[in-house]
Amino acid sequence: MNVLEKYSLAGRVAVVTGASQGLGRGYAAGLAEAGAVVVCCARSVEGLRSAAVEIAAKGGRAEAVALDVTRYEETGKIFEKIRDKYGSLDILVNNAGTEEVADFVDVTPEQYDKIMDVNLKGAFFTAQAAARIMKTRKKGKILNIGSLGSAIGLSGSSVYCGTKGGVLQMTRAMAIELAPYNIQVNALGPGYFRTPMTEPFFQDPAHRKWIEERIPAGRAGTVEDLLGAVIFLCGDASGYLTGQILYVDGGWLAS
Ligand SMILES: NC(=O)c1ccc[n+]([C@@H]2O[C@H](COP(=O)([O-])OP(=O)(O)OC[C@H]3O[C@@H](n4cnc5c(N)ncnc54)[C@H](OP(=O)(O)O)[C@@H]3O)[C@@H](O)[C@H]2O)c1
Repeated sequence: MNVLEKYSLAGRVAVVTGASQGLGRGYAAGLAEAGAVVVCCARSVEGLRSAAVEIAAKGGRAEAVALDVTRYEETGKIFEKIRDKYGSLDILVNNAGTEEVADFVDVTPEQYDKIMDVNLKGAFFTAQAAARIMKTRKKGKILNIGSLGSAIGLSGSSVYCGTKGGVLQMTRAMAIELAPYNIQVNALGPGYFRTPMTEPFFQDPAHRKWIEERIPAGRAGTVEDLLGAVIFLCGDASGYLTGQILYVDGGWLAS
């Protein structure tokens, strides 16, 4: 196989959770551009439909499917329907996530559960549902989404950091169990990207300055900055790479 062909996702079926807005929406567009049929999942059907329409307008193939990653028992059935419709489920970008900034001493059990249920338990059972299908096919790619919070502590984000540290550890454990089935499980660790989730940080001049001062590249990222890593980690080019996290952070963690 020509080396560039290893970056093509032609003929692959990809599911992206949290594709109604923000980074997930960008990943969906990038995967479609690389040739995959993309199933865009989230709770907001309106956001998903516009994401799918945008992809189709650029010549890609995409479908919107409502999915709440905290309805753990439903995910498997939804993924089986996708497999039955398209003939396979090759790639999962396990991106749905949430955050609620609060000082550690003020976090309530309700806030804790809300963030854990989506970011960690939701990601866990979404990956499990995909892996059950991929295992029978002996091929697959699962890309979990970590964060700088997988590696360092972020003030006001104690629960979020707990979930993202957990995402990294579960990535490693999933990877070793699934490696014999030719399923690679890796994580992407984005630095700071301006999305609806992070908009309040960028709106606050002091917080924005704090972020930008810590990025050696001198700017926050855009989703295009992540697509090279996403396509690599979802394609044949990363066929012998598993259980790793790739930080795309403009140099933050190196500094
Ligand atoms: N932005 C950054 O700088 C940054 C940095 C590091 C890591 N990340 C991670 O990247 C991922 C995306 O972040 P983002 O910044 O793009 O956030 P965002 O703009 O808030 O988007 C979050 C996405 O997750 C979906 N979602 C939330 N709860 C869900 C649920 N229960 N079921 C299904 N989908 C759900 C949302 O859609 P609905 O509301 O329609 O369900 C939305 O599409 C998250 O895992 C986040 O932790 C982001």
